[in-house]
Amino acid sequence: MAVNNAMTNDFLHSAYGGESLAHMRYLMWGSMAEKEGFKNIAKLFEAIAYAERVHANNHFKEIGGNADDYTVTAGGVFGTAKTVDNLQGAINGELHEVEQMYPVYLKTAQMQSEKGAEKSFHFALEAEKIHVDLFQQAQNAAREGKDMELTSVHICPICGHTVLDEAPDKCPVCGAKKEMYKEF
Ligand code: FE2
Ligand code: FE2
Ligand code: FE2
Repeated sequence: MAVNNAMTNDFLHSAYGGESLAHMRYLMWGSMAEKEGFKNIAKLFEAIAYAERVHANNHFKEIGGNADDYTVTAGGVFGTAKTVDNLQGAINGELHEVEQMYPVYLKTAQMQSEKGAEKSFHFALEAEKIHVDLFQQAQNAAREGKDMELTSVHICPICGHTVLDEAPDKCPVCGAKKEMYKEF
């Protein structure tokens, strides 16, 4: 599954770097939310951290065969603050991916006929749109000092599709079956 074109190859590395950092950042912000008493927001962070890991894993597989050293600059905030502020960091990062990064990466992969990368970017883009909305809901609650209302979070292990309370019969993005979803 090696990539043929330099630009798509660069974008896959960059996306892998960004998703890897997002994964770790959300795990840390999740434990901070837990400490502040926001159990459900902590669960949302933990679940979405897993979705970002799915994205990182998909990009990593597409890089396949390229074992060169690579320096990657990944956009995104660093450090921890209060949960309300961490959620703003999450929203900003997801918005950057939805409005700038993935649309450009996706178009490039399409132009360069990189089918594997195209799929990997498409899967991520669709999930990040949902993440913006969910983090916004979480922040609205946290602003009022309340936890978010949810019973469970479900993540598609193929594409990272994210849904609250119950998994769909079939993933609307990649078609994976309900039983495959990972529950948090
Ligand atoms: Fe992602
Ligand atoms: Fe995301
Ligand atoms: Fe999926």
